[in-house]
Amino acid sequence: MSEAVLLKGGRVVDPSRNLDQTLDVLLKDGVIAKVDEKIAARGADVVDAAGLVVAPGFVDLHTHLREPGFEHKETVATGTRAAAAGGFTSVCAMANTMPVLDDAPAVAFLVRRIRETAVVRVYPIGAVSHGLEGLELAEIGLMKAEGIVAVSDDGKPIANGMLMRRALEYATMFGLPVVVHEEDPSLVGGGVMNEGWASTRLGLPGWPNVGESAMVARDLQLAALTKARLHVAHVSTRESLEMIRVARRAGIAVTCEVTPHHLTLTDEDVARSSYDTRFKMNPPLRSEADRAALVAALVEGTIDAVATDHAPHHEDEKALAFEDAPFGVTGLETALPVLVEALLVPRAITLQRLVEVLSTAPARVFSLPGGTLAEGAPADVVVFSTTKSTHVTPDGFASRSKNSPWTARTLRGRVERTFVGGREVFARGAAPVGGDR
Ligand code: DOR
Ligand code: ZN
Repeated sequence: MSEAVLLKGGRVVDPSRNLDQTLDVLLKDGVIAKVDEKIAARGADVVDAAGLVVAPGFVDLHTHLREPGFEHKETVATGTRAAAAGGFTSVCAMANTMPVLDDAPAVAFLVRRIRETAVVRVYPIGAVSHGLEGLELAEIGLMKAEGIVAVSDDGKPIANGMLMRRALEYATMFGLPVVVHEEDPSLVGGGVMNEGWASTRLGLPGWPNVGESAMVARDLQLAALTKARLHVAHVSTRESLEMIRVARRAGIAVTCEVTPHHLTLTDEDVARSSYDTRFKMNPPLRSEADRAALVAALVEGTIDAVATDHAPHHEDEKALAFEDAPFGVTGLETALPVLVEALLVPRAITLQRLVEVLSTAPARVFSLPGGTLAEGAPADVVVFSTTKSTHVTPDGFASRSKNSPWTARTLRGRVERTFVGGREVFARGAAPVGGDR
């Protein structure tokens, strides 16, 4: 491929400028060189984008890349290739690796692996507490110097209120959002799925809505007190949404994300699956009333962004009884088709808002580059179809793990090409770029 790429005649959707128009887009020298009608660019590789959407590359605020320590589940190489295949040009990597990303050398190691093996942009998230133990603060300032964009103990809640207060105070000094996995351990106990009629029928221990919303209440109060930036990860209950809505109106600096699975599946899908551990994640799939409230909040803006919570696990680990298997589902390679099939096709969301919540909004939430096709911006671009279908076949995933609840489903929507800094990192049907190191 030559230096320049001309994407011809696509439907250009750029929420950063409220743009939705058939145009050409020229990628040159790593940036968006021009967006216009009928661009002539001699020497550029021409891609026919007629009938396809051309949008700013997706930005995932919540990805588990598992390196270092759990390379049998995923690596920076395989996880970022999965991201590219899903149209994601940037991902934020969670801290629950082994060792935990809780000090400067750990972050520096990951940054080196990113430089050596990543095919999309990766932004590390540092831990809040040492070893994710919830006892003492991690080296937040030193990790910031190594490039973290947020702090989070994701996978685990911060049970101690005083530690949470200190985390908010420190993170604010360094201009970092605190990303919270809201779960009150004393209320959730050993819950493995949503507490309700479905869990009763299945005889599985329930994880009640209040296990999340009680912690959201505490943290909104602490964010108000400390004037810190709070970001609620994978919000799943209507009670949490109601409090976040009120807090935002009151001027509290809170943002939140929702996953494709919480937007589209419920605890009845767990029941129908007959104990299929591909439907086990934390927080669990909720009731239909919660799911509908999440969709409404995403459309209306109380929820800022979609984040995948891509949580790869090895087949052998997932091949356990429902109560014993680890929480988590993969998401990078299915996010777009899941949302197109479940929300765009039935017109629950507009194409403009769909691109916004996958790209422009998450970039803003963590102040990351990207999320725009403005001239001069990094040439991070996704080209996708809203009419062609994806057949979900985990054997063909770039991800090392196959724990997808959409396995064997055929979903409208298909990512065709992904560019990072003007370089093509994914093209449907082509061999994947980057070695699996
Ligand atoms: O389902 C989940 N999986 N939720 C989490 O909070 C952690 C994640 C993981 O690391 O597997
Ligand atoms: Zn989590």
